[in-house]
Amino acid sequence: MDQQLTALLDELHHHGVSYDADKPDRLDRLRNLEPDTAELLAVLVRATAAHNVLELGTSNGFSTLWLADAVDATGGHLTSVEIEADRSAQAARNLDCAGLSAVVDLRV
Ligand SMILES: C[S@@+](CC[C@H](N)C(=O)[O-])C[C@H]1O[C@@H](n2cnc3c(N)ncnc32)[C@H](O)[C@@H]1O
Repeated sequence: MDQQLTALLDELHHHGVSYDADKPDRLDRLRNLEPDTAELLAVLVRATAAHNVLELGTSNGFSTLWLADAVDATGGHLTSVEIEADRSAQAARNLDCAGLSAVVDLRV
């Protein structure tokens, strides 16, 4: 994983923690995976050389970035589904920032 993506993931993790902290309703929270959990999913994608990966619940794309980086390495593709259009739009911006848009199909 390159330094730019590592920095973006670190920034998103801290943003998610602070964003969620004052949201009493869990549905208002971004609910990003813990970094260790997201990393484990990425390891599984790489270890199984997964080519077609489906993520349910994109949120703003924290775990999506981890999975996208992994499918980029396997030569695969990720489809990620999110019910909230604004969250999917945030994910699209984050993927674009990381240069990983080409390996991900975001659906609302
Ligand atoms: C736990 S969060 C996902 C966190 C994300 N994987 C990450 O690590 O950043 C669950 C997400 O699923 C979305 N969601 C809930 N019901 C859904 C549905 N029926 N279809 C698609 N997305 C849904 C929510 O809007 C929320 O953003």
